[in-house]
Amino acid sequence: MQDGNGFLVVGGDSLVGASTVRALAGRGHRVIASTRRPDALSGDRVLIDFEKSETFAAPSGVDYAFVIAAATNYERCETDPMAKVINVELIPQLVASLLEQGLFVTFISTNSVFGGERPWPNEDDPHSPGIAYARQKSDGEREIRRAAEALGALDRLGVVRLTKIMDSDTPPLPTWLESWKRGETVTPFADLIFAPMSVSYVGEMLATIGEKRVPGNLHLSGAENVSYVDFAQAVARQLDVDPGLIEPTTATEKGVHIAFKPTYSGLGMTRTRELTALEPQSLHALVKDLFPAASA
Ligand SMILES: NC(=O)c1ccc[n+]([C@@H]2O[C@H](COP(=O)([O-])OP(=O)(O)OC[C@H]3O[C@@H](n4cnc5c(N)ncnc54)[C@H](OP(=O)(O)O)[C@@H]3O)[C@@H](O)[C@H]2O)c1
Repeated sequence: MQDGNGFLVVGGDSLVGASTVRALAGRGHRVIASTRRPDALSGDRVLIDFEKSETFAAPSGVDYAFVIAAATNYERCETDPMAKVINVELIPQLVASLLEQGLFVTFISTNSVFGGERPWPNEDDPHSPGIAYARQKSDGEREIRRAAEALGALDRLGVVRLTKIMDSDTPPLPTWLESWKRGETVTPFADLIFAPMSVSYVGEMLATIGEKRVPGNLHLSGAENVSYVDFAQAVARQLDVDPGLIEPTTATEKGVHIAFKPTYSGLGMTRTRELTALEPQSLHALVKDLFPAASA
């Protein structure tokens, strides 16, 4: 089934972008994804490189864009001035141009804009970013909203903030699985808290948000704030691994510097639930999604 309202996914090569493309295409929507790799272009892959200044003309038949690509590396955001230019200037300029061309735009942001010291911040709560990446995403949101306001297009702008996204090959999972295969213990951190979601859950939920066209701020979150020890125990249960092969430790004890170490990671979804009926993903659902074969 093809409908007349196509989607543009800016950042088709990213973890979240690739999953969003799969979910939208799986529901029968026309999807065009952007790449910045000239050798990957095709009928449904268009070139967008924020650092090249050409104006991007939205493909015909596309009336909704997910702007997902960004400078995401924490270290790069701290040290490379270009990361700030990408996140705070070039991406908002692209969003403004897409709004000007009449598209509905959903911009993807992060739980880190809230800083991590308040439990379950809701969609319209004030920001308190700590690290450079979080400051840039928060400033990017502000610039995008300002541009939409100037264009009288706030009713065609959505911001969706996400918590940590896991795939089966997201670190440290491959290392844990290898260790367990050899009968060795793993040493997850008890002092590293997150509210993880599976990449396929996020793709499907973003597809639903795209279909519903909800403007304003929305959140997608794991249902629980858990430590990496809780997470390892849930994965071990799912894979039938001896829980004795988990030896909890802490980042502090190991002397490991963690750039973003929130006390609370989960996002409140009050407005999102009201407007979309979407629910946060439980830890149990996450591990079943990551390792479905074991749940048969
Ligand atoms: N992953 C998470 O846990 C998480 C959590 C919360 C929020 N988010 C947000 O979700 C979004 C996607 O995150 P992700 O982890 O899926 O990203 P990712 O896998 O790190 O991918 C980032 C993408 O951005 C593209 N990109 C970087 N600089 C670019 C430029 N100058 N021009 C065009 N494209 C450029 C990269 O292209 P190449 O592939 O060519 O390098 C890559 O495909 C981001 O906005 C992030 O802030 C992610």
